[in-house]
Amino acid sequence: MTVANKKGYFITVEGTDGAGKTSVLATIENWITAQGHRVITTREPGGTPLAEQIRDLLLTSREEKLADDAELLMMMAARVQHVHTKIKPALMQGTWVLSDRFLDASYAYQGGGRGMSTARIDALHTWAIDHFLPDLTILLDVPVAIGQARVAHRGEEKTRFEEEKTAFFERVRSAYLARANQEPQRIVVIDARADQARVQADVIAALSQRWSA
Ligand SMILES: Nc1ncnc2c1ncn2[C@@H]1O[C@H](COP(=O)(O)OP(=O)(O)O)[C@@H](O)[C@H]1O
Ligand SMILES: [Mg+2]
Repeated sequence: MTVANKKGYFITVEGTDGAGKTSVLATIENWITAQGHRVITTREPGGTPLAEQIRDLLLTSREEKLADDAELLMMMAARVQHVHTKIKPALMQGTWVLSDRFLDASYAYQGGGRGMSTARIDALHTWAIDHFLPDLTILLDVPVAIGQARVAHRGEEKTRFEEEKTAFFERVRSAYLARANQEPQRIVVIDARADQARVQADVIAALSQRWSA
């Protein structure tokens, strides 16, 4: 990736709701720490106070419908702020950065889910963060129904996205998998139907393979 003098590595975790992203963050943090590196964990949309305010605009349901292009632009605006203010400065200092969702989510949700053109997202991505990409992306893949059943047990209030129909999430999942097919060297797909111990072991295997001593 393209940060001059970068010393830390950037890892992202992706997947549909209930795939187990947030659950697996601690496993990855522990692994990075055990390798002797500093790590910060962050999330998208959000990650800085200002970007978290954009998150609130994006995730809270309101009477006024958010136009698809506005959704994409706000996601990208939050990402610019996040990369500029938090991610790149940490990487420059040698701190590893772990993010619960990042760029691939725009291709999955706005591209797959909303049906916006990939070319449009590509153009905006280049404009916003100039091909800044994670060093490794863990894609937790789970059938939509299983993810939804898990989230139902989580007992949190539904976000604006969670109000979408199953077909929306099927498109999100397909778009994630299509992206993994296009970038197999960066995106590792993990079968997240398995129990948490199995998923954690697979995640650690992916990390060890990428940064084998
Ligand atoms: N591999 C798994 N098998 C069964 N339940 C899981 C697994 N991973 C996570 N969970 C549970 O599913 C719910 C959603 O997990 P979470 O990590 O919040 O998913 P996400 O952040 O991807 O939406 C949580 O209650 C979590 O404990
Ligand atoms: Mg989560």
